[in-house]
Amino acid sequence: MTEERPKKEKSVFIRTYGCQMNVYDSERMAGLLKPLGYSSAETPDEADLVILNTCHIREKAAEKVYSELGRLKKLKAAKQKRGGDMSIAVAGCVAQAEGAEITARAPQVDMVVGPQAYHRLPELLARAARGRGDILETDFAVEEKFDRLAARVAEGPTAFLTIQEGCDKFCTFCVVPYTRGAEVSRPVEAITAEARMLAAQGVREITLLGQNVNAWCAAAPAGSAGDAQWRLGELCRHIALIDGIDRIRFTTSHPRDMDGGLIRALGEEEKLMPYLHLPVQSGADKILKAMNRGHTADHYRRLIDRIRAMRPDIAISGDFIVGFPGETSEDFEETIALVAEIGYASAYSFKYSRRPGTPGAAMPKQVADAEKDARLGRLQALLDSQRQAFNEGQIGKIMPVLLEKPGRHKDQLVGRTPYLQSVHVSAPKSMLGLIASVSIKGVTPNALAGALTKEGEAAA
Ligand code: 5AD
Ligand code: SF4
Repeated sequence: MTEERPKKEKSVFIRTYGCQMNVYDSERMAGLLKPLGYSSAETPDEADLVILNTCHIREKAAEKVYSELGRLKKLKAAKQKRGGDMSIAVAGCVAQAEGAEITARAPQVDMVVGPQAYHRLPELLARAARGRGDILETDFAVEEKFDRLAARVAEGPTAFLTIQEGCDKFCTFCVVPYTRGAEVSRPVEAITAEARMLAAQGVREITLLGQNVNAWCAAAPAGSAGDAQWRLGELCRHIALIDGIDRIRFTTSHPRDMDGGLIRALGEEEKLMPYLHLPVQSGADKILKAMNRGHTADHYRRLIDRIRAMRPDIAISGDFIVGFPGETSEDFEETIALVAEIGYASAYSFKYSRRPGTPGAAMPKQVADAEKDARLGRLQALLDSQRQAFNEGQIGKIMPVLLEKPGRHKDQLVGRTPYLQSVHVSAPKSMLGLIASVSIKGVTPNALAGALTKEGEAAA
């Protein structure tokens, strides 16, 4: 706590794995440590404190943490030999799921802190400085965490804002309900205060985050007309009233929580960007049922139809898992058919990864890895061709592009279209943070190439 504040300037290096919620958490951890004298280090080598903000969603993601801890162990030993020191903290979902295992497997770790407990980092650091080893904090107390975080400092014209955490859905493949706990929504007032703080610092685009962002639900602000409980559609319209905020996004949504109010908001609120990440995971009803998704493929198709009817220009993105236990080649063909029918602007697809403690891990008929590889290859080829076609479809269009950061070349900026595509544009640095009118000229593997149509801000 503050009385423990070190005099000396120190530095922290945070490595973030996994989802955007971890990116948000890492930023908040850095903000929390600043008043304690910690500046940001560029590499772990020079840092006094290294935090690994980890992801547990698939086995590969979790294993990366242990290999990084191996590298850090050597670094720490070398530093100690030179008379220095380095503290190592493991944060995030691996910390939550494997806390005790981490301290046993990696004794070089000084602190283990779960995603709902990182607001206690200053206390943990003080305890570590007093020489108390094996510090493990993995409580769930979401509101306390948000209340105790430092003021937000914007790092550019776009920002993430966590509005909801946790998951009650218990998809049978997923660790999230165990690592992030039950669904909790932040109150409207806390969210709008954070959004205003960001807008005052020049943020123009806010992405609302939640593991089940569209399950967000909270009491309407006192004195507001309409329903006593607000859902995400109302919250988005409310945030759209904040001066300076021109673009609103939200992720990740669940098909079951895509209510009429949110679909109407997507159609009516121009600040809501025409891009929706709506995972379906599989196109086969048998597999969706085994996954405990709570929807069928047809339910998803009808939902997409309704959304497109409301907002015809919307781009759809998704997540897919191939090789879930019991998935036959016929089931997989149903996924391919659904993808072909929907047409995705972008997507993430994964081989099923058996996660200890989830019901899927114990299911019979696990699919062989070679079969998963083959299915993933086919699915990704289709999704890649859809993404390519979608990107090429933008050539010749004039789009409002939010210029976010400098590009690799001199006088080049990188921005985003409403569809979240990266665009490289020749433009002076002075235009950073503006929404410029850009003519799309071409497509590279990971981005679009564009040219300014006129200086200044487009009336996007
Ligand atoms: N194996 C493979 N992919 C998974 N995901 C979640 N759990 C697993 C798992 N055990 C994927 C889902 C989810 C995304 C964030 O990660 O597609 O939507
Ligand atoms: Fe995991 Fe399913 Fe919850 Fe998403 S909805 S976080 S996939 S359990």
